[in-house]
Amino acid sequence: MAHELGIRAKIIRGGQIQKVCIAIDKGRISEVGADINCDKVMHFDDYLAMPGGVDIHTHMREPGLTHKENFYSGTKSAAFGGTTTVMDMPNTVPATDSASAIREKLELVGENANVDFGLFGQLSDVDEIEKMAPLAIGFKLFMSETTSAGAAASPPEILLNSRHISGRVVTVHAEDPSHFSAEECTDLHRHNLIRNMKAESEAVRRILSIETPAKLNLAHLTTRECAEMAQKRKSSFEITPHHILLDDAMNLGPFGKVNPPLRKKQVAEKLFEIAKTGRAIIASDHAPHTLQDKSGGFSVSPSGMPGVETRIPLLLAMAEKNLLKHQAVQDMCCQLPADLFGLRKGRIQQGYDADMAFYDLQNVVKIEARMLHSKCGWTPFEGYDAIFPAGVMLRGSMIIRGGQLILEKTGMNLKAV
Ligand code: DOR
Ligand code: ZN
Repeated sequence: MAHELGIRAKIIRGGQIQKVCIAIDKGRISEVGADINCDKVMHFDDYLAMPGGVDIHTHMREPGLTHKENFYSGTKSAAFGGTTTVMDMPNTVPATDSASAIREKLELVGENANVDFGLFGQLSDVDEIEKMAPLAIGFKLFMSETTSAGAAASPPEILLNSRHISGRVVTVHAEDPSHFSAEECTDLHRHNLIRNMKAESEAVRRILSIETPAKLNLAHLTTRECAEMAQKRKSSFEITPHHILLDDAMNLGPFGKVNPPLRKKQVAEKLFEIAKTGRAIIASDHAPHTLQDKSGGFSVSPSGMPGVETRIPLLLAMAEKNLLKHQAVQDMCCQLPADLFGLRKGRIQQGYDADMAFYDLQNVVKIEARMLHSKCGWTPFEGYDAIFPAGVMLRGSMIIRGGQLILEKTGMNLKAV
């Protein structure tokens, strides 16, 4: 029997780039081989097919902050960056910290997603954990205040002991405010001194010392030392593109203000060594704020920067310069994050969802904010080299072709499948 659809493209396998045919039936990959009998064939022969990216840390801002982003715009931005699965963080307004808040969010956003998604529940009330468990893709624990998120009401020890999070992902924002200094925050260098590396490493140490039945995942680690602590305890962890590419001496002003802060150049370079090993999850921490939000002076500017659309394109351009391996980019942006949540995504392999993005590796462009699709209208990576996908497929259907979103709002809530 012939397969419904075949795609001729190059893929990365075992560290090599190979030409293959990818057969697809009913939205899933049914076979990958040299020559396969298919009813219809799509030719991406000279393109690299990567699994659709999985970005496990984004802030899509709905409800309550939709002047910054909404589910439609944020997931469209993801798709144009080759990412077909996003996880949405709970520091919306109101916070997504109860079963009813998750249901209400889903009601609002469920029909507007351009890529598949999961919703995080915020850990703050022990009694809500059991009720959120069937609805949330994972849980978020904030150890310090940050944009629209109060610190957890109960201490992390209590929250992480709940049996209702057994085997579930708990992503931790690890910064310990008792180590913050009280200076006025006037520039990036000071922001780094205030929310310093000790505040981060002490929080990481504390979290990793807690016995918990959950799968701990440490968000946006900024130092090699913290990453190594996590590795030692076999905890997964995320690294962001901004913490490896940007630093506190850059002339970004409020646009570089983010929590945890951009560190010194040498620290970022050492963190990049971890990324080169391919044994980390790269997540964007896409946290859009409008140009206006960022224009009221450094000390009052909200922290956070967009990144869902530039995550894979930036890394692929770096791979083309031999700064890291294509295989590492694929592992860190697709496979490892999908595996953490047990999703049938993130690989070009039989049985997995046919989520893919097709890249012309010769087509390196300079990032400009006007090319991007987030509502926020700016990027900290202006002028950086990037390789954007020429086409994107979600569960067997092309959603982007010829620079256009040709099929919209077909994203599904992964908790519901
Ligand atoms: O800089 C940040 N911005 N860090 C966070 O933890 C939250 C995020 C946001 O939501 O803006
Ligand atoms: Zn975040």
